Amino acid sequence: MFPVTRPRRLRISQEMRDMVSESTIQPNKLIMPVFVDENANSPKPIPSMPGIFRYPISGLADYLNSLESSGVRSILLFGIPSSKDEVGTSAYDENGVVQKAIRIAKESSTLITMADLCMCEYTSHGHCGILKGDVVDNDATIDVYAKIALTYAEAGADIVAPSGMMDGQVGRIRTALDKNGFKDISILAYSAKYASGLYGPFRDAADSKPGFGDRKSYQMDPRNIREAMREITLDINEGADMIMVKPALFYLDVLREARQRFDLPIVSYSVSGEYTMIKNAVSSGNLGESVINEAIGSIFRAGADMVITYFAQYLAEKL
Ligand code: PBG
Ligand code: ZN
Repeated sequence: MFPVTRPRRLRISQEMRDMVSESTIQPNKLIMPVFVDENANSPKPIPSMPGIFRYPISGLADYLNSLESSGVRSILLFGIPSSKDEVGTSAYDENGVVQKAIRIAKESSTLITMADLCMCEYTSHGHCGILKGDVVDNDATIDVYAKIALTYAEAGADIVAPSGMMDGQVGRIRTALDKNGFKDISILAYSAKYASGLYGPFRDAADSKPGFGDRKSYQMDPRNIREAMREITLDINEGADMIMVKPALFYLDVLREARQRFDLPIVSYSVSGEYTMIKNAVSSGNLGESVINEAIGSIFRAGADMVITYFAQYLAEKL
C-alpha cells in the first residue's frame, strides 16, 4: 500500500520502462502486404492508401530489397492481373502475376514469402469464388483454390493464405498440397475474417470490389465472437498451421479470446481501413505519430504473435 508501494518507481526512466515492458513490437513479427500489378510499368500510388504503392513486376526486386534493408522479414503478396473472367482463370495461371512475384521474391530476397489465395482480384464479378446464379458455389470454389495453391507452391511460396472464407478450404488445399509433394508448405488460414467496412481502401488498391451485392454470405457477421471460435477450431482440424483474426483493431476481443483458447501461432491483420484512418489522422496533424506504435502495439498486447500491417516498413525502420 502507498506510501510503501509506488508503481511510478518502475516508470522512472526510458531504460526502466523498456526493461519492465510486457509486450514489444519486433520487426520479425511484422508482415508487409505487397501489391503487384501486372499492368503497371512503374510504382503507382494507391489514392485510398497514402504512402502505399502497387509495384510492377519489373520493379519488384528493388522494392523487396528496400523492405529487407528496412528490417522487414516477411511479405504477403497480392496480385492485380492483366485479365479477368467469370471463373478467375488468371488466378491459377502458372505465369500469373502472383506466381511471377513469388519467383522474384524467392530469387532476389530472403523474405518469408506468403501469398494471399483468393479469386476476387481475378473474377470479372469481383466475388471470391465461382458463381452459381448470384451465389458463390462453395464446393466448386474450393476446387479452384486447390489449383491456385499448387501453382503458388510450384512457384516456391513458403506459405499460402486462403482468404475467401469458403467452408472446407483449408482441408481441400492441405490435401492437394500433400498429394503433390508439398507437405512442407504452410497454410496461414484467414479463419475469423469478418465482413467489414474496413476493406474499402484495399478493394480500390486491388481492384476487387464485388460488382453486385456484398460478401456477407461468406465472410463473418461482425456481431459474432463464438462463431469465430468455431471457425478457428474447424481450420485447425483441417490442418491450418497458423490462424488469423481480421480485421485487428475493432476485433481485439476476438483476438484475446482466440489467444486464450488456442496454442497455434495467431496472426492478426490490421487492414487497409485501419491503416488509412491512422495515416490520415497523423498526416493532418490531428493525431501524433505515436498512435501508430500504440495501435499496432495494442494488437500484440491483445495476444497476436504476428501482425500484418501496412506500417510494417515504417515500424521496422524505427526499431
Ligand atoms: C481478398 C482479401 C481482402 C483483404 C485481404 N484479402 C479483401 C476482401 O475480402 O474484400 C482485405 C485486406 C485489407 O483491407 O487490407 N479476399
Ligand atoms: Zn476474395
